[in-house]
Amino acid sequence: MEICRLPSQPAVVNLQQRQTAGIYPFKTPEFPPYIKCSLGDESSTKNPDSKNRMFILGMGFVGKFLAADLKSDGWEVTGTCTSTARKKELEEMGLHAHIFDANEPQQEILDILKFHSHLLISVPPVLGVGDPMLRHKELLKKRLKDGNLQWLGYLSSTGVYGDSGGALVDEEFPPSPTTELAKARIAAEEGWLHLACDGRVTAQIFRLGGIYGPGRSAVDTILKQEPLSKGQKMRFSRHYTSRIHVADICQALKASIQRPSPGKIDNVVDDDPAPREQVFKFARNLVEEKWPGHISSNNSAEEAKSLIPQGASRGEKRVSNKRIKMELGVRLLYPTYECGLRSIIERIENPFGVS
Ligand SMILES: NC(=O)c1ccc[n+]([C@@H]2O[C@H](COP(=O)([O-])OP(=O)(O)OC[C@H]3O[C@@H](n4cnc5c(N)ncnc54)[C@H](OP(=O)(O)O)[C@@H]3O)[C@@H](O)[C@H]2O)c1
Repeated sequence: MEICRLPSQPAVVNLQQRQTAGIYPFKTPEFPPYIKCSLGDESSTKNPDSKNRMFILGMGFVGKFLAADLKSDGWEVTGTCTSTARKKELEEMGLHAHIFDANEPQQEILDILKFHSHLLISVPPVLGVGDPMLRHKELLKKRLKDGNLQWLGYLSSTGVYGDSGGALVDEEFPPSPTTELAKARIAAEEGWLHLACDGRVTAQIFRLGGIYGPGRSAVDTILKQEPLSKGQKMRFSRHYTSRIHVADICQALKASIQRPSPGKIDNVVDDDPAPREQVFKFARNLVEEKWPGHISSNNSAEEAKSLIPQGASRGEKRVSNKRIKMELGVRLLYPTYECGLRSIIERIENPFGVS
């Protein structure tokens, strides 16, 4: 099958044929907005009727939230983490957890993969290394092919789009990563799509905006009264930032599991890209409204000073979520940061210990 790129149609690529023809790996990733992988007959040997079992590689912030959500829907969920403290926390939630290092993957944990129907990859790439799991793709390929896996989701980032000068970008916008990490992301997206195609598994990519939710938000940062990290300060130099509440990421993932589409890329962002400075100002007002007088004005002045753009911009853009709405039928629970932050603060009991 030829690569077909028509302006108004998604690009269709038969990954297997391209690989056989020795076209992969790409040196410079040129990523079509929509890749179709022909899974062939072998995919029909997988058992789609078996119980839904999710394996989450990297049960971090999103992974943990999704695990709890799926578990309440009756799924079996297993996942990995890197520390015993984290493992204990996950087990207390009723999840199966394994300590796992993607740099040196234990075969026996990879073997467990075979008994799962779905796999979510949430381990980020590392500068200078790339995706640590993909360095072991031969180990993974066999497990994907021989097991019962039907669906693989890779959590990526809208950072892959680079700088669009403030224009709204959708999945058709050619990625133009400006940082080494964003380049590693694109390579990881491609790597997982190829691997899944070889393993006869439907793979989908989710490009997430800045993730927030209970326990990780501008409200939480202000309540902790901690100085902003260097990374947070740097990100203020971008005008627009797209973000997404973790509950809406779970919605999009679940909707895509219901309507699998090999090679599809979805942006997962809310309706309201906004500068971080504006988000922090809004969060600060919420905190002051709820607990007047508890936030030091010194902190506010320091924060304002630290928000002065520093260093080079990492790209100005707004990201479109039309596809998840139109094709997956997602109706965002938190379409704006205002309603997302309000819902977070409503659930926080007095963090200052006195009323
Ligand atoms: N934060 C954002 O705003 C944002 C935006 C767009 C995309 N993303 C990406 O979306 C994904 C999910 O985000 P998140 O906020 O849920 O990430 P997170 O909380 O940092 O979770 C990442 C998970 O990967 C695990 N992990 C990291 N390095 C590993 C290694 N070498 N071997 C094995 N496991 C490893 C971590 O283990 P532990 O649990 O033991 O720490 C954790 O479970 C990540 O890839 C992230 O980079 C994040």
